[in-house]
Amino acid sequence: MGIVVCTADLFPEHVDRLANAGHEIRLSKDADKDSLKPLLTDADAIICLLTHAIGCQLLDAAPHLRVVANVAVGYENIDVPAAKERGIIVTNTPDVLTESTADHAFALLLAAARRIPEADATIRDGEFPAWGLRQPLTGIDVHGKTLGIVGMGRIGTAVARRGHHGFGMPILYHSRTRKHDLENELGARPVSFEDLLTKSDFVSVHVPSTDETYHLFNTEAFAQMKPSAIFVNVARGAVVDEAALVQALRDRTIAGAGLDVFEQEPRIHPGLLELHEHVVLAPHLGSATVDTRRAMGDMAIDNVLAVLDGKPPLTPVS
Ligand code: DGY
Repeated sequence: MGIVVCTADLFPEHVDRLANAGHEIRLSKDADKDSLKPLLTDADAIICLLTHAIGCQLLDAAPHLRVVANVAVGYENIDVPAAKERGIIVTNTPDVLTESTADHAFALLLAAARRIPEADATIRDGEFPAWGLRQPLTGIDVHGKTLGIVGMGRIGTAVARRGHHGFGMPILYHSRTRKHDLENELGARPVSFEDLLTKSDFVSVHVPSTDETYHLFNTEAFAQMKPSAIFVNVARGAVVDEAALVQALRDRTIAGAGLDVFEQEPRIHPGLLELHEHVVLAPHLGSATVDTRRAMGDMAIDNVLAVLDGKPPLTPVS
């Protein structure tokens, strides 16, 4: 039997799974260091969310800790090298959220292109613009336009498939490695970052937040994009220089953006809030469907149960 501290708001069946396996569960809605530390002194496992920072101080407060199970695919909230030094395994939840996150990326892309939030707000304001060839709220076509994917990992690939199979979009991609299978399946073309920016009608970013990707999308990058282009980010806010994005949207250097992630979450750049035309904002909802969140919780618990049972975790991070 082990002690599992959960800062994640697990579903009741998740809690039951841990309890049925004989573990003690300590639920803590408050992921603040001071409230967590006393819970950790004899803990064997932590199940946490990506908004909860797990660094040296908390790891040192948990001398018996064997596993930190993040309920997210990203894990920049955890000091992985520090955990490794202390012999603590870190796990994440890849794969189970790929398709829902790709759905969300496409929803933002479509909503920004076809101005769905603006249309919704117009109707709720009691207006119904008269039908006309050049009426208000006309948008940008998606079908047949070129989709540029930056980071052709699992989610990037799932977005590319939607674009190709669903909307007949030619696919360009820029990634660390060539994806010959996707080149065959989707006719996807590998291109330089610059070529992707200049040639794509929609640019969707799917890279993790690292030193290398920090502010990858900056003033220079936006300046290379088409003035009709729409930028989509369901990856991480730090990949984008938000001030540069606001400027690019204001100056109409690019046409629009669909954003699910922000540099200083939950703070949103005030400039973004003022922009409406072809701009759609969501509060980090990529994986937020009931089915996917259940599956993420299940995967985190599978990892904890395996480690506490002396078995290898299913999805350790390197
Ligand atoms: C993740 O898992 O990293 C996602 O951002 C959650 O939606």
